[in-house]
Amino acid sequence: MAVLITGGAGYIGSHTCIELLNVGYEIIVVDNFSNSKPEALKRVSELTRKYFKTYCLDLQNREGLEKIFTDNKIEAVIHLAGLKAVGESVHFPLKYYENNINSTVTLCEVMKKFEVKNLVFSSSATVYGATETVPISENTPLGATNPYGRTKQMIEGILEDLYESDHNWSIALLRYFNPVGAHVSGRIGEDPSGVPNNLMPYISQVAVGKLETLKVFGDNYSTVDGTGVRDYIHVVDLAKGHVKALEKMLISKGVESYNLGTGQGYSVLEVIAAFEKASGKTISYSIVERRPGDVGICYADASKAKKELGWVTCKGLDEMCQDSWRWQQNNPHGYNVETKLLIRS
Ligand code: WQD
Repeated sequence: MAVLITGGAGYIGSHTCIELLNVGYEIIVVDNFSNSKPEALKRVSELTRKYFKTYCLDLQNREGLEKIFTDNKIEAVIHLAGLKAVGESVHFPLKYYENNINSTVTLCEVMKKFEVKNLVFSSSATVYGATETVPISENTPLGATNPYGRTKQMIEGILEDLYESDHNWSIALLRYFNPVGAHVSGRIGEDPSGVPNNLMPYISQVAVGKLETLKVFGDNYSTVDGTGVRDYIHVVDLAKGHVKALEKMLISKGVESYNLGTGQGYSVLEVIAAFEKASGKTISYSIVERRPGDVGICYADASKAKKELGWVTCKGLDEMCQDSWRWQQNNPHGYNVETKLLIRS
């Protein structure tokens, strides 16, 4: 029986594939490669010495998706595919609603048709919106403040309604805090297209000389040094959280949300200092105005995932920076290579 990973070629997806393969799961990847590269999957295969099927398909292609379920014995789905840039979602909201919501509804309809009712969904801490109460627990009222976050919040609601309509479903809603870092090999990592929006890839590109200087968005928040505080979580710890959630979904019914964070916040200046230590490089930066929509401080209460999934994070900020830097140094232009990979359509 296989686990279907949608968006498996992406940053979170490729790291999750490795962790699933390493503990013996059979996996199948479906990805439309709109924001990822087949090279990532070739390297997943090399690193794990495991083969797995890959389908190039948009999830809204219902016929194509049904064929995957017909041709393969699938027991669960880890649904990571989706558009995820906050800034882009503000400019193109309809693209985000259409893609993220329609593809999830189509996926669930096909899963229902084939009686596959175990689902792990990639949600986000952005569903909490501008809450200033920290640490943030799963009971914190939701209030996404941008179209990207609202698609995640709406999808959580859709999945809760799905469970209410049929209690045979097992659904985990994983609310990611700030994923950073890379696999220790330096062979897979975050490969943002264009200028990165997020802090860690931006700092990495300044360190490797691709970008001049970092703009620090505000230093007048009520935090340790005035700059924004976030809960950075190593992507390998995050990937292992998906394995734990899958294991729980395979033995229990219900729909549950889980914060995947470390419970520890770090400021922008603390991240810069840690990255300088890890890379031996000086990160040039200037303090500018706050970024609209940012909150000052955000970090998780991750005790529910520890208690119910038996999951804890193991990697600290230094390791996150070391692994980010190794990936960036080894792949200054990301996965910008031609790949020979058998991809089914
Ligand atoms: C972190 C801190 C910024 C860039 C995002 C989105 C979403 C989510 C994860 C999936 C903040 C500061 C950043 C820069 C800066 N992904 N910063 N200069 O906004 O906390 O959340 O992360 O769900 O993509 O919600 O992450 O990395 O953009 O910002 O000063 O050039 O770094 O102000 O304090 P964010 P981020």
